[in-house]
Amino acid sequence: MDRIRIVGGRELNGVIPISGAKNAALPLMIASLLTPETLTLENVPDLADVNRLLRILGNHGVDHMVEGRRFGDSPDASRTIRLSARDIVDTTAPYELVSKMRASFWVVAPLLARMGEAKVSLPGGCAIGTRPVDLLIMALEKLGAKVEIEAGYVHATAPKGLRGAEIEFPKVTVGGTHTAMMAAATAQGATRILNAAREPEVVDLAACLNKMGAKISGAGRSEIEIEGVGRLNGARHRVLPDRIEAGTYAIAAAMAGGDVLLAGAEAGALQNALDALVAAGAQVAVSNEGVRVKRNGAGLSPVDVETAPFPGFPTDLQAQFMALMTRAKGDSRITETIFENRFMHVQELARLGARIRLEGDVALVEGVERLEGAPVMATDLRASVSLVIAALAAEGETMVNRVYHLDRGFERLEAKLSGCGAVIERLSS
Ligand code: EPZ
Repeated sequence: MDRIRIVGGRELNGVIPISGAKNAALPLMIASLLTPETLTLENVPDLADVNRLLRILGNHGVDHMVEGRRFGDSPDASRTIRLSARDIVDTTAPYELVSKMRASFWVVAPLLARMGEAKVSLPGGCAIGTRPVDLLIMALEKLGAKVEIEAGYVHATAPKGLRGAEIEFPKVTVGGTHTAMMAAATAQGATRILNAAREPEVVDLAACLNKMGAKISGAGRSEIEIEGVGRLNGARHRVLPDRIEAGTYAIAAAMAGGDVLLAGAEAGALQNALDALVAAGAQVAVSNEGVRVKRNGAGLSPVDVETAPFPGFPTDLQAQFMALMTRAKGDSRITETIFENRFMHVQELARLGARIRLEGDVALVEGVERLEGAPVMATDLRASVSLVIAALAAEGETMVNRVYHLDRGFERLEAKLSGCGAVIERLSS
């Protein structure tokens, strides 16, 4: 299994190109199931999760073609993938595939909308909590689907097609909002989604569906309206930049010190986290090129954060911000309100010398003078990258094990950090 070796204590200086967003690319790829025509997606990151989803979609009959690099393209040039679901050959998504990647459960909506039937394995628990799918099922039922749970599978049918409806989510859910939009796009009549997720990835999916001929308005607000259309066509769409990758490197720059330009990052999608970084003592400047993060000399101030749905502080940056706070001059409180078990990084940060106490959904972080390198590992991708961030500021060598978590969500992580002066390398074994 590969490991990543980091020797801490170097500043980061330079440019980090921000890749296309994993959490936008996945639902966009799934949307290709809605049309027999070709959906071309640009700026698709080269990640384990994306490649796994290509295999899952292939199982349903989606052909894909990755456009080759052009002569002179830089290694940072993003991928363009063409997806064609001309014939759906299988409406079942088996346990072996869905259990490895939760987002693949979302195929239930387009399969049901297009084929009148879908049988998709329940995803089960994962390292960040139980993560049920009851709200996704509720949305499909509101749209007229009959849903049965049999032997670990969600079997949804709508022999006469789906009908527009009002769907009010009792809790903000990104996957629920994606599911409702994909299922309602071709339903008969109008749908209103209330308490919809406002995440930029929801806006990106709606924009792509509209290019495919859907009539969706209000994405990015709590109320989304969809006028069902008979069929969707092919389209070309560019995946938005990854705000979580950008936020992660912004935190890394604040942790290590130095001056880093996050090329292509969109500050608007990251405002809450950037505000927290400024409060912690980093300088943040926004330009047409992206977001520039600097910290020179001055120590870090403690900042309390509480995760919340967009535009609040993202749960996907909670672990990374906690790593930063381990070096603050004072105590901070980090509250996780989205997932009930997303503190798996705490034990591992402690191995590097962090002092963190857990009280329910709150982590109390007591800033320390120094962290010291150690062997560590983590159980999900954001937790893993928080260990990389801590290691950048730790004395000596840190070995991060179970690197496959990082490969699920961070494209060319070692190259991007070493390009800015970090001592980081992958050891293959
Ligand atoms: C998406 O997961 C992201 N995944 C997650 O990114 C992210 O942490 C999460 O949204 C929150 O922002 C992708 O986009 C692929 P939710 P999702 O439905 O859609 C509860 C990463 O590291 N809930 O918004 O699955 C749920 O348990 C990841 O890239 C129900 O109770 O999250 C959670 O407490 C991991 N019933 C809350 O809602 C349901 O039916 C929000 O989850 C659905 C969700």
